[in-house]
Amino acid sequence: AASGKFFVGGNWKCNGTKDSITKLVADLNSAKLESDVDVVVSPPFVYLDMVSSSLTDRIEVSAQNSWIGKGGAFTGEISVEQLKDIGCKWVILGHSERRHIIGEDDQFIGKKAAYALNEGLGVIACIGELLEEREAGKTFDVCFQQVKAFADVVPSWDNVVIAYEPVWAIGTGKVATPQQAQEVHVAVRDWLKKNISEEVASKTRIIYGGSVNGSNCGELAKQEDIDGFLVGGASLKGPEFATIVNSVT
Ligand code: G3P
Repeated sequence: AASGKFFVGGNWKCNGTKDSITKLVADLNSAKLESDVDVVVSPPFVYLDMVSSSLTDRIEVSAQNSWIGKGGAFTGEISVEQLKDIGCKWVILGHSERRHIIGEDDQFIGKKAAYALNEGLGVIACIGELLEEREAGKTFDVCFQQVKAFADVVPSWDNVVIAYEPVWAIGTGKVATPQQAQEVHVAVRDWLKKNISEEVASKTRIIYGGSVNGSNCGELAKQEDIDGFLVGGASLKGPEFATIVNSVT
């Protein structure tokens, strides 16, 4: 890892019930986690309060989305103020499932990021190319454009973690090779150096997501520019998630 403290997030997506989440929280509360890792889990909105009040303080809680501004007459939305009210510290924004299934664009995601950061939430800013974009040799272009959309609006990079999640590797069991991931991470870091500052490039954590599990995390974690992981499926299993957290080198 090149930058800051290793960071591992568990994105539970739209999974779980009261029962399964109670068990997962119990497993996480009893897990032995390396101390030099920031650990965050992101339950669905309806379980956020329950998780935030029953989970050990060792692990922080993240939302999977937030509204672009102050709350009010926005049916179905959840505001940053409400997230903070229940002890939530982070929000995942720009996830490919929201970009490609829900149709969120860079501008809309940027508004959410700016608002959340201005209100003091940390942002896990997701980027990543589709398979056809990779095959067309557009991986860097797509990632740089998505990072730029965040860069154009974020007030400061202090509370931003970039998550590189190649869309073809998400939920497919087809993990990027350590070299494929490293290549994009170093390119994004270089973009930050050229377009923002040397300091931001060296301090901002760039984490990898896409079919990370207990068996492949070790090799990925050894790469110089991989500063942690954003884990989907494997974060629903407490012991396996703990293995991934503990892959810090
Ligand atoms: O945000 C995490 C993610 O999209 C990766 O999901 O299930 O491939 O680990 P998964």
